[in-house]
Amino acid sequence: MYQLPSLPTRVLLGVNLASLGALLRSGPRRFGRACTRSWQASRDTPSDALARIPEISVGEIVGARRPVIQMPVTQYENGMLPNHELLALLSILVAESPKEVLEIGTYMGHTTRQMAENLPNGVVHTVDLPEDFASESDPNRTLPKDDFHLIQNRTVGREYKNSPCASRVRQHLGDSASWDFSQAGQSTFFFIDGSHTYEYCKSDSEKCFALCNGRGVFLWHDCDDGHPGVMQFVNEWRAMGRDLRRIAGTAIAYWKSA
Ligand SMILES: C[S@@+](CC[C@H](N)C(=O)[O-])C[C@H]1O[C@@H](n2cnc3c(N)ncnc32)[C@H](O)[C@@H]1O
Repeated sequence: MYQLPSLPTRVLLGVNLASLGALLRSGPRRFGRACTRSWQASRDTPSDALARIPEISVGEIVGARRPVIQMPVTQYENGMLPNHELLALLSILVAESPKEVLEIGTYMGHTTRQMAENLPNGVVHTVDLPEDFASESDPNRTLPKDDFHLIQNRTVGREYKNSPCASRVRQHLGDSASWDFSQAGQSTFFFIDGSHTYEYCKSDSEKCFALCNGRGVFLWHDCDDGHPGVMQFVNEWRAMGRDLRRIAGTAIAYWKSA
């Protein structure tokens, strides 16, 4: 029969960078809690990990702000956001009205375009791998990528190019592991949807957090049991006391840091 390890053992097994960070920031009690959560996270099945992320509705997020959005209802194309997730993202975007936005993972530019059209005075930065990216000659192999089928089949920014909003889109080409995030100006709203491995999700999120000095709104796509790395990352930031939630009925995780 399985015996739960003692509390000190669970604490010891859960020591990692995230829990040490909690120790430095918030003291021993938070450290103990962060260690046991990290230990728990390391034993999670994908559905355990998902169940540990509490939900929040779009209505709760926008509260009394009642944003008015505009979006076309379109047929789904592999790799894009489905209509109900686009609705959630645009509602939060318009409620927040940031001056600058950063999307990691442009793909065809469906979401880029809708964000730019719904922010008539804003600038949307969006970054994707160079058009000639080839995994065989990838100089950034230290972090594992995924979605090679999407990388191969993309026409970066196809959907927003030749539309009036294109003048407010800044297309960047580079690997988010080595790209200079300061090119995303003063972005305070982040849609993180590039590579969905744990390593990329963590690296991209930390860089966004640093760019906005820890004061921003963060959305991560693919927070579902098909993407364990995203859920592992979300639970890791939650263990640091950050109240990341999954938006009800979607695979989008949400956090407003301040
Ligand atoms: C799921 S698609 C993004 C969909 C898009 N955000 C949308 O809502 O329509 C993922 C995109 O991330 C890009 N990508 C993957 N790894 C990346 C990396 N390391 N740096 C930048 N872009 C990356 C892929 O080329 C692909 O176009």
